[in-house]
Amino acid sequence: MGSYDLTGRKALVTGGARGLGAGMAQALRAAGADLVIGDIQEDLGRATADELNASGDGGKAGFVRLDVTDDASWEEAVRQAIEQLGGLDIVINNAGVEVTSLVVDLDAESVRKMLDVNLLGTALGIKHAFRAMRPGGPAGAGGAVVNIASVAATIAFPGISVYSATKSGVDRLTRVAAMESGKLGYGVRVNCVYPGLVPTEMGNQLAQDVARLGLFPSVEEAVGAVIGLTPQGRLGDVTDMADAVVFLVSDSARFITGAGLPVDGGMGM
Ligand SMILES: NC(=O)c1ccc[n+]([C@@H]2O[C@H](COP(=O)([O-])OP(=O)(O)OC[C@H]3O[C@@H](n4cnc5c(N)ncnc54)[C@H](O)[C@@H]3O)[C@@H](O)[C@H]2O)c1
Repeated sequence: MGSYDLTGRKALVTGGARGLGAGMAQALRAAGADLVIGDIQEDLGRATADELNASGDGGKAGFVRLDVTDDASWEEAVRQAIEQLGGLDIVINNAGVEVTSLVVDLDAESVRKMLDVNLLGTALGIKHAFRAMRPGGPAGAGGAVVNIASVAATIAFPGISVYSATKSGVDRLTRVAAMESGKLGYGVRVNCVYPGLVPTEMGNQLAQDVARLGLFPSVEEAVGAVIGLTPQGRLGDVTDMADAVVFLVSDSARFITGAGLPVDGGMGM
């Protein structure tokens, strides 16, 4: 557990119904922020918010329905977030999907899905964060955006070509958005993190998929190969990622923008 104070901050975490996003919501709340989870999974998202509220001291957690691929959905979700929270100064663009495939077997629909959720979803998230948080916006007091890229943006791992490309895109989006925000006086810092493999539903599925595709002899050997590539010698866990996000949105990171922070035990160095 990290130790940064976010008391009074107001956050929106996309894809926060489960996995890394739920962990980020938990860590932001524990640091004192009020937040809403934005997700397409309504029942799970509400249940996750309820669970967070039941787990002791910290800020309040709520839920808004959000499909990150849809501009109108963003508009409405941000409006509701500001209404529920009384402002908005943190947006975590975490929602993502991964469909494992060899390049020779790529299926256009799956490629479009990853481009839509990972790249378009993050781009729209930055757009609506800027519109809300820049001077004159309905929240209007500046803030911080963190985009969740991946170690896949920094290395070549077999079976995840298009996913890796979308995460490299998230990395570049981050830099240009940070540049525009600084130059245009929005007062919004924009950074990204590159998580290593974490055994969430997505992470576990990936390990199974690369074994099924014959890239590794078994799931265990696929996981072992990732650990072998990681100087710290283990997989990541949800709190590793969540603590890095809390740092990046905190005042301790006040002069950090346009940065990509590896949180991967050294795998991508
Ligand atoms: N788990 C890992 O090993 C790993 C490693 C590096 C990066 N990441 C990235 O971290 C993020 C979270 O991954 P995770 O492992 O928690 O995945 P996950 O599949 O467990 O959770 C993803 C969440 O995103 C939501 N989501 C999907 N499409 C959405 C949409 N259109 N609109 C709103 N929400 C949507 C899902 O409902 C789900 O709650 C993703 O961006 C992923 O690419 C994960």
